[in-house]
Amino acid sequence: MSRVYIARVPTNIAFLKYWGKSDAKTQWPSNNSLSMTLDLYTETSAQYVEGSRHRLFFDGKELAPQSDFARKPLRHLDVLSESLGFKEKLLIRSRNEFPESCGIASSASGLGAITLASIACWTESGSFESLAKKAYTRERLAELARLGSGSACRSFWGGFVCWERGLSVQQQSVRQIFHGSHWPLRDRIVILSSERKTVSSTDGHSLAWTSPLFAQRLEVLETRGSKIQEALERRDLSSLGPLLEEEALNMHEVMKHSRPPCLYLGGETLNFLDELRSFRQREHLDCFFTLDAGPNVHLIYEEKDIKKLDPLTMGLKVLDVGIGAGPHLSRK
Ligand code: PMV
Repeated sequence: MSRVYIARVPTNIAFLKYWGKSDAKTQWPSNNSLSMTLDLYTETSAQYVEGSRHRLFFDGKELAPQSDFARKPLRHLDVLSESLGFKEKLLIRSRNEFPESCGIASSASGLGAITLASIACWTESGSFESLAKKAYTRERLAELARLGSGSACRSFWGGFVCWERGLSVQQQSVRQIFHGSHWPLRDRIVILSSERKTVSSTDGHSLAWTSPLFAQRLEVLETRGSKIQEALERRDLSSLGPLLEEEALNMHEVMKHSRPPCLYLGGETLNFLDELRSFRQREHLDCFFTLDAGPNVHLIYEEKDIKKLDPLTMGLKVLDVGIGAGPHLSRK
C-alpha cells in the first residue's frame, strides 16, 4: 500500500484584492494584493493509484473528470506533473471545512492543498523540511500553487501576507508581513448564499480589462495598499476599516462595469451592508466589511468584540474564524 500524504491549507481573505491579470498563462497579477490567512482549511490527501488517470474524490464522492468541479484541479495536476516531470497518477481526496464557491476563497485553499499534497506524494516528503531539501521550498510551492489559483500563493503563510507583482513574472514574491499574533483580528463570514457563483473568478479576472474603471483602480491601489499596511502596523481598525470597505466596493464596481458585467452582489448583500452601517453607528463598534467574488459578507473586527457582534448576525448563517497559522503537512 502506498503512503498517504495529507495537506491542510487555509483559505485567506484579501484586504487588497487581486483582480485582473497582466498575463493569464503565468498568472501574473495586475496589482499587488494583501490578505489575512484564516483558520479555515481544505484538507487534501494524495496517494499513488493504479491506472492511466488521476482520480478525484470530494467529500467522499468520486468526481467525473469532465464535471465543472473537477476540471480545474485535474488541469492543475496535469500542469504540475508535466512541468515537474512526475509520471505517477494520484488518488486525491479533498474536503472543505466550509461551503465551496460561495465567495469564500475556496480555490485558494483547494488548489493550495492539492499542490502541497501531490508534490509531497510525488517526492515522498512528509514535512516542509523534507520538501525544502528537494528544492520545494515554501516559496516554490506557493509559486506552483499560484498556477492553479492566484490567491492560493498567499495561503502558504499564516498571519498577514503580501503578494507583490514585481516588475516581471519572475520578480513577483509572496511573504508574511505580520505574524497573526501581531493583531488578533477575526472574520465573521455572513453566508447570504451558498450557491455556486455564476461567473467563476477565472472568467471574471479576464473581464477586468474590459471595465472602463479598471485603469483608474490600478492607479490608486499602490497608495491604498500602503495605507492598509500602515493601519495594520499600528493596529488601527478605525483607519483600516474604511479602507477595506472602499477597496471591496471598488473591486465590485470594476466587476459591475466589465463587459459583460459580473454581478456578484444582490439585494440581500446590499441590505445587510445598510444594517451593518446603522448597527455600527448605534453601537459605536469598530466592525467593517470586505467582500470576495460573491454575495457573502466578511465582517472584520477585533477579538474583544466577538459577543458585541451577535445582535447584528442573529438568525443568519455565519462562520466565525480567527487568523490561521498557515499550511500543515503529514503522512501516514
Ligand atoms: O485566486 P482566484 O483566481 O480565485 O482569484 C481570487 C480573487 C478574489 O478572491 C476576488 C480576490 C483575492 O485577492 O483573493
